[in-house]
Amino acid sequence: MAIEKMKKIGLLTSGGDAPGMNCAIRAVVRTALGYGLEVIGIKRGFKGLYENDVMEMNARSVSGIINRGGTILRTIRFPEFKEKDIQQQCYENLKKNSIDALVVIGGDGSSRGAFSFHSNFQVPVCVIPASIDNDVYGTDFTIGFDTAVNTAVEAIDRIRDTATSHERIFVVEVMGRHHGFLAIEVAIAAGAEIVVIPERPLTIEKIVEILEIDKIRGKISSLIVLAEGAGRAHELARRINEEIGGAEARYSVLGYIQRGGVPTYQTRVLATMFGNEAVKGLRDGLTCFMVGISGTELCRVHLKDVVSGTKTISEEKLKIIEAMGI
Ligand code: ADP
Ligand code: F6P
Repeated sequence: MAIEKMKKIGLLTSGGDAPGMNCAIRAVVRTALGYGLEVIGIKRGFKGLYENDVMEMNARSVSGIINRGGTILRTIRFPEFKEKDIQQQCYENLKKNSIDALVVIGGDGSSRGAFSFHSNFQVPVCVIPASIDNDVYGTDFTIGFDTAVNTAVEAIDRIRDTATSHERIFVVEVMGRHHGFLAIEVAIAAGAEIVVIPERPLTIEKIVEILEIDKIRGKISSLIVLAEGAGRAHELARRINEEIGGAEARYSVLGYIQRGGVPTYQTRVLATMFGNEAVKGLRDGLTCFMVGISGTELCRVHLKDVVSGTKTISEEKLKIIEAMGI
């Protein structure tokens, strides 16, 4: 779409919420207003678009939200959006509101939804990657990941106190859906002896072997970070107690505390830069892209590449976890 023809942007948050989504909302709104564009907020993800649940947004709509987790536009998982007739209704609602382009703040699934919608209806779309899983191909970081890692590490630091006092083995289950990006980062930062992730599952025999070596090395407590996609913490703790006589393995499931909280500075800066870049990319005439970061540089990645790519874990980081666990 030519720059001069774009007058109004639709904005929604989709999929799992993440700290920093509000920062991105604020940045999109204020950047767009700065360029003389109007912004329509669409509530509750693609479902809100389907139901035409919309609101006009101005600079004051996004006051006082930069330090709030969650999303003021709210979000809902809406698998029905995979159906073309549902998308058709969404397209009609975009037209009804004279929306020229759509900004989708969300994760891997939301990126697929945006790509599918553009492919079917040629609506200019931009994805701002936001997910605590950091599993979106094409960007080194997604909004919310840094905050979730910090939340998990703070929780594990507390668990470490009691694990040490009681000379116990602790299994801590973190989120991350089908990937181990969150678990790996948390394991390094929390000083875990073992990390178990879907990309690199470990047998109970291997885990027991490592734990028994830890004991020989004089460790009075060991910490295992388990990604939810690789199993359940309560089950692993039970197996460890079965296999190691005298062990008092315990577990904690961090769960949804990883999805909330005050966004860190990194999350806030990343989200603000992504929101600003999203509007600039649309104004430059891009119609099917994701904003991302590669190293320290912002990038714009075609959604076709985002949805067809697969992010891989760092073998180097796995080696570091092993090296630090002696
Ligand atoms: P996230 O964006 O956090 O990965 P989901 O996987 O739930 O969360 O995806 C968010 C929304 O994107 C879904 O609820 C659905 O509306 C839409 N979506 C996901 N995958 C697709 C797809 N392949 N085609 C169309 N829409 C999709
Ligand atoms: O995608 C973010 C995430 O928190 C995953 O890590 C987790 O598996 C999933 O969402 C939980 O989904 P829901 O919020 O729908 O229970």
